[in-house]
Amino acid sequence: MLNGKHIILGITGGIAAYKSALLVRLLIKRGAEVQVVMTPSAKEFITPVTLSALTGKPVVSEFFTANTGEWHSHVDLGLWADAMVIAPATACTIGKMANGVADNMLVTTYLSAKAPVFVAPAMDLDMMAHPSTTRNLELLRSYGNHVIEPASGELASHLVGRGRMEEPENIVRVLDDYFASSSRLAGKKVLITAGPTYERIDPVRFIGNFSTGKMGYALADAAARAGAEVTVVSGPVSVRPKESSVKVIPVESACQMADRCMEIFPQTDIAIMCAAVADYAPAEQLDKKLKRGNCETMTLELRRNPDIAAMLGKNKRDGQILVGFALETDNEEFNACRKMESKNLDLIVLNSLAVPGAGFATDTNAVSVFFADGRRTDIPLMSKADVAGKIISLL
Ligand code: C5P
Repeated sequence: MLNGKHIILGITGGIAAYKSALLVRLLIKRGAEVQVVMTPSAKEFITPVTLSALTGKPVVSEFFTANTGEWHSHVDLGLWADAMVIAPATACTIGKMANGVADNMLVTTYLSAKAPVFVAPAMDLDMMAHPSTTRNLELLRSYGNHVIEPASGELASHLVGRGRMEEPENIVRVLDDYFASSSRLAGKKVLITAGPTYERIDPVRFIGNFSTGKMGYALADAAARAGAEVTVVSGPVSVRPKESSVKVIPVESACQMADRCMEIFPQTDIAIMCAAVADYAPAEQLDKKLKRGNCETMTLELRRNPDIAAMLGKNKRDGQILVGFALETDNEEFNACRKMESKNLDLIVLNSLAVPGAGFATDTNAVSVFFADGRRTDIPLMSKADVAGKIISLL
């Protein structure tokens, strides 16, 4: 998967920089073109001569070449790259990346890079465990960067703990897997419903629910990263897709969502119904604000909303894949599978309410995926982005 790929290898000033030479060799052996960008302190740990000899390209470290005044364009570098890997990434560079402290060539290149960025931290165990490192890595993840988790073991300080840079072979494997998955859904059109629906009562009130759309948008990003052309038909949410190629069609009510989905579904290869659609809407929408009466109780007449998943299920052609979500409080597996059958779904993702940290409005989820042919896959508690990646890889 790495053949012909342009990789920027960012090297920072940590002991693990001695492993960068091996990382370069492995990337070059797989056919990648590698451009090394070093921080000034990285040169104390490994020489630019070693790296330029291995890559066949001069190492970039300063904004200018001192004797010729030649400017090194971090913007051009950022556009050239198919991926940027920072290995080893020190606590200092991670902090600068997280906060946009662009005081060297590596961080300016990072800020200009359009390609996916992979960060392999390497530091002593206490630095690794410090809340500032944890927060900065979390920020990098929130920017869509991939953190290649450090391993536990003996560190340069002779202490034993978490902070060893992942071995070069494994870093190469992560890149290989990324490029393999980034073409998995190439040419496929994916429709995703996300968020809640709002059912208007009068001009100022609605019936809604607590769905945030996080899971649906994470699926949209994961599908886009897998090469798909993605359209999200989205109820009112505040999240946005991280991937710029994702098209969002905003809607408010279940009926509007159903109309848009029915229009798009015939041209769709995969439809994922992730929205928390209101089952019922007020039978009548008032033009004027409903006044408080003198009665102690009030009755609102509701009418059933269209079941979008079931409608698409009825219209499904051979080769189209339809995915539903279920959130059950009892007989979870039985009810989810019955829903899959009645809506003619190919698979259903059951949100586990029993697991703390899963479900509505959290950044994490734990799900079980049931296939129409009887197979089952459990995805334990992890970030919604990672759950989304796993679900997309199952498709
Ligand atoms: O029937 P239930 O609401 O539990 O089914 C959940 C699945 O059906 C989800 O995939 C949800 O997005 C979808 N659904 C729908 N339209 C509705 C109700 C649910 O598409 N009106």
